[in-house]
Amino acid sequence: MRIYKAKDYNEMSRKAANIISAQIIMKPDAVLGLATGSSPIGTYKQLIDWYNKGDLDFSEIRSVNLDEYKGLDASNPQSYAYFMRHNLFDSVNIKLENTNIPNGLETDIEKECTRYNNIIKSLGGIDLQLLGIGNNGHIGFNEPGEAFEKETHCVKLTENTIQANARFFSSIDEVPTHAYSTGIKNIMQARSILLIASGEAKAEAMYQALFGPITPTVPASILQLHNNVSIVADEAALSLIIKKNLI
Ligand code: GLP
Repeated sequence: MRIYKAKDYNEMSRKAANIISAQIIMKPDAVLGLATGSSPIGTYKQLIDWYNKGDLDFSEIRSVNLDEYKGLDASNPQSYAYFMRHNLFDSVNIKLENTNIPNGLETDIEKECTRYNNIIKSLGGIDLQLLGIGNNGHIGFNEPGEAFEKETHCVKLTENTIQANARFFSSIDEVPTHAYSTGIKNIMQARSILLIASGEAKAEAMYQALFGPITPTVPASILQLHNNVSIVADEAALSLIIKKNLI
């Protein structure tokens, strides 16, 4: 595991975008595992900027997103499908048919999970998985307590996650209670992983994930067992780790 320290959100975004750019340049038809939330927005902005300068080409890139709220359709501004179009897909030359996000409107859970796992398999697996981290150590929507061996599944969101994500909705009652998420097994099968984190609120989760015991109560802690993980985080997110002289 390599930990790259950034001074703030902007530097984190730039370093993370550099790693993703390298992947795109080295393998123009790479399969990118993409994430949502506030953490990757700056990274996507930087990628768009380099695309506009002619440095990046997304025409052969394939993508699979980590998760989607259950019950939201792709045109809902709170959906992750909308987020991806708004923050990346509409601004680069990726082909929308090469992008994949769980279908939040599918009510047949087993059908949707099987469909999504099959997509990942048919693409030959994920080359680079981008991850944020929840305040409680979740990755994707794999909440504390979820079995490490899970693939795509339907998750009941914890109160902590509903509250943390309420800032994107006009009221907390509008936050969906369930989501489709790829599982820890899908994430761990990615050939490389890039986890980004910014801000003091993530400091405890980052310490537990990177230096605590490997346990399902901190889903991100499993990343300690992956052999190709890069962490790009700002000083605030690393503050507890720095304070304990661990890096
Ligand atoms: C959501 C997403 C995660 C994301 C997390 C942290 O729960 N499902 O993929 O990592 O939020 O979000 P943020 O980056 O906004 O802190």
